[in-house]
This record gives sequence, structure tokens and C-alpha cells, in this order.
Amino acid sequence: AAYDLIILNGIVVTDTAIEEYDVAIKDEKIAKVAKRGALKDAQVAKTINADGGYVMPGGVDGHVHLQEPPLFGKGSSADNYETGSRSAICGGTTTMVTFAPQKKSEDTLLDTLHATHERAKGNCYIDYSFHLLVGNPSERALSEFKTLREEGISSLKIYMTYETLQLNDGQILDVLLEARRNQITTMVHAENGEVIDWMTKQLEKRNMFAPKFHGTSHAPIAETEATYRAICLSEFMDSPILIVHVSTPPAAAHIKSAQDRGIPIYAETCPQYLFLTKADLDKPGFEGAKCVCSPPPRESEKDCDVIWDGLSNGTFTILSSDHCPFRYDDNVNGKKTCINNEYPEGHFKYIPNGIAGIETRLSLALSADRLGLKKFVELTSTNPAKLYGLYPLKGAFIEEQSDADVTIWYPPGKMQEFELKNEMLHHNVDYTPFEGRTLKQWPRYTILRGKVVWDKENGGLLGEKGYGKFIKREASSLAKPRNNGEWDIYADGSFGCS
Ligand code: URP
Ligand code: ZN
Ligand code: ZN
Ligand code: ZN
Repeated sequence: AAYDLIILNGIVVTDTAIEEYDVAIKDEKIAKVAKRGALKDAQVAKTINADGGYVMPGGVDGHVHLQEPPLFGKGSSADNYETGSRSAICGGTTTMVTFAPQKKSEDTLLDTLHATHERAKGNCYIDYSFHLLVGNPSERALSEFKTLREEGISSLKIYMTYETLQLNDGQILDVLLEARRNQITTMVHAENGEVIDWMTKQLEKRNMFAPKFHGTSHAPIAETEATYRAICLSEFMDSPILIVHVSTPPAAAHIKSAQDRGIPIYAETCPQYLFLTKADLDKPGFEGAKCVCSPPPRESEKDCDVIWDGLSNGTFTILSSDHCPFRYDDNVNGKKTCINNEYPEGHFKYIPNGIAGIETRLSLALSADRLGLKKFVELTSTNPAKLYGLYPLKGAFIEEQSDADVTIWYPPGKMQEFELKNEMLHHNVDYTPFEGRTLKQWPRYTILRGKVVWDKENGGLLGEKGYGKFIKREASSLAKPRNNGEWDIYADGSFGCS
């Protein structure tokens, strides 16, 4: 047959167009995107009738934690590469970028990378790559950036908080300079660790231990200050950054103002900052622990509205999950671990930070109907692919270039609204912070490199672990230094004002 698979009668949505198109797939690639009906005489092995449903490039999730050691002080990951990527595919995500975490006690990044490869290899249902999480920017680690690029890694993450990971400003400058030299994009967790520690001690003195005080300790100013500091350091080095998981309006305003000045500052937000608030952290008993993540859900729906606006107006380049899974009811590592003899009602500082969301990211955002379809594709698929050097292999329907990764939704209005329940999900976590939310959409099919891996009505999960493969990434096609001559890095590696 001329084609392996044709998707008929869909409404194709990309970041730039919404059209009644049919899509033909051959040898794992998008082979043809043509006006509805134009492919009706083509020889084809298999067809899917989209029935007027949206046909979109598969989701790309640029922020996923799987199988990490307990780095944030407490708790270990509930999902491994198998269960995390399985969950992704059932929610329409076909590519993920997870973290390869280097500990402060480790000197090298390459060993970290290779160890993470071992965890992922043969276990993934979807395609994947890694961001290097730099916990120790030693001379050796910095000297390895070039090799990282050769091994297909073009981004890394650094932290301005968490005792086990926090870098000081000098270390941040070291990383930014070396990242710029190697065309690597630096992701920054922007919270001021000292402020959080100080607030935590103040709360402890007053015996304030409930989950909601996690939110108090991670004061908005800790995020605002660190965000502005990160922007200043990035501008000084002319090294592009992406501020991850932005939650506060003032942080978003600093980002927007830097962007308006032409500085290459990018930003991400996540569903938790669109749908959760302090009221969720303040649920009766210990329930609030289910919404403990960092930064925390903020004050009110007004804050959420500002974050939504930031998605629409371009402040945020990507919408990621920050899937960081811990079980609730697990006496060893879960969120209830901190309920013990010393703290019979628990203590917020011992609640592992992070929530699961790799499977619900797309459906929550699409069901909310607040972004417009093209913007939705841009934020959840095309932009993460561009930002992280995966475009146009991922995040697009470009004939003969893009992998045939497709998410097919129900025809608009055809799906019965339903209440999300954790038992519907495919992760290894015993709760979802989005329990009970009303959803209007769920992926009907997920296709990865031409293979139907999720068919909601016929078999559900059809993919196989190990079909997902490691993707070597290029430099970002979005995040680039301005090279405006203020700071130059000379051929001999020295730098200074020109
Ligand atoms: O609470 C969160 N987000 N935990 C995950 C670690 C991180 O900083 O992304
Ligand atoms: Zn290697
Ligand atoms: Zn973070
Ligand atoms: Zn994270």
C-alpha cells in the first residue's frame, strides 16, 4: 500500500491552522496532509475515522520527574519510566523530557546521564529525552557540556532552592556561561531558598504544621525575587533561560517586562497553577497534602486568571505537567510519611513536594476551553518541541519530516462530560489532585510513530513498553543569545566587554 494509515474526516489543528484535512502516514512519518476526501482513492493498509474530531500533533511534555532519588529532601518517585510513560500515552502525550538528576555529591554529569539512560531504556511507552539537572556545577561537570550536546542533550535545570540542589549566584553564572557557549537552554527553578527556610522556622515556632502552611512558607515574594534575580543573571550573561512552573502574577510580570525588552526569557506554567488554589491546600484533615507542590497553589482564582492570561498573551511559552509523583498513603515515602509520633497531624515541611499530572495535562487544558485550539497546540506540543530542539520531528505535521505522532480527540460536544477519578488514570499514584473535576474531552486515539498506542473504546492501552525511544535533540530553535556585543565570548574561550 502507498500508506500505512490514513486518518479521515478529522479537523486538523496545528499551532497555525484549523482545517478539514485527512492525514496519511507512511514509515512512521507524516506523509501527506490533504483536503478532506483528497486521499480517498489512495491505497492504504488501515484507516481511522476521526468523525469530525480534532487531530493534533501528539502532546510534548517538557517537564517530567520519573524514578528520581529523593532529591528534594524526602520521598521517592512513585512512577518509574514504565508507569510514567504509560500514563502519558493514555492522556495523549507522545514525547516527554524527564530529568537526569546529578546530586551535589557527584562530580560528573555524564555518569548521571548514562545512569538515567539505563533506567529508561526498554521501559518507555513514549519517546523521550532528558534535561540534565545540575546539582554540582564542578569544573568537571562544566567541562562536560560539550559532550552532553554530542549526546543529544540541549537543556539543563538548576535550582535556587532546596538544600540538596540549591546553587548560589556565582554557580548560576558558571552554568549560564557554559550553557551559552554550548547552545544549551537553562531551566531555572526560581524560589529563594533562604526565604523559604526562614518562613518555615517562623511557622514552626508557632506550631503551625498543617499542609496549608507549605503555601505560607513558600511565600510569593520568594518566587518573585528569585525570578527577577534569574532574569538579571541571564541578561548579564546573555544566556537564554526558561523559568519553570511560574505561579505568581508578579513573577509573570517580571518575565513579560524582560520579554518586552527583547531579552530571551522563556517561561512555563502548569495545570496546578490554573486549577488549584490555597483552598485546596486547606482541605480538612491531611487532604491538603495532595496539593503540595513547589511553588504551591496560590491565594485565589484571581491568581489563576492571571496565569491563564499569561498563556494567552505569550508570557508563557509552554504548558507542562511537572509530573512529580508521590503516593499519598505510603508509610515509607508517601505524603503521609510525616504523620508520626512527633507530628501526629503531620508537618508540612516533611510532605514530599510534587503532584502527578502527565496524563491529565492535555485534557484539563482542552476541557477548560479558555485558550483557543491553535494556542492549545502551540503551548502543549509545538513550542515545547521548538524550545527543546525537537522540532519539526515533534510538535508538527510537516510532510516527510515530522514523526507520525497524533492525538485524536472526540468530535466537539460529542463526549459526555465526566468527573475525573484517579482510578481512570494509568500512573502508579493513589490520588490525583484534580479528583472530581469535570472534563469535556479525553483523547480517543493516541498514535506514536504511526502505531495506534491508545484506543479509548477498543482496548485502551495498546502500546508496548520499549517502543518509545530516546530522541537526540538539537539546540533550541527558540532560545538564543542576543549576541548584541555587550558581552562577547572570544575564540580562545575568554570573554569581556567589547
Ligand atoms: O513540587 C514540585 N514541583 N516538585 C518537583 C520538583 C521541581 O522543582 O520541579
Ligand atoms: Zn556517553
Ligand atoms: Zn522545580
Ligand atoms: Zn519539576
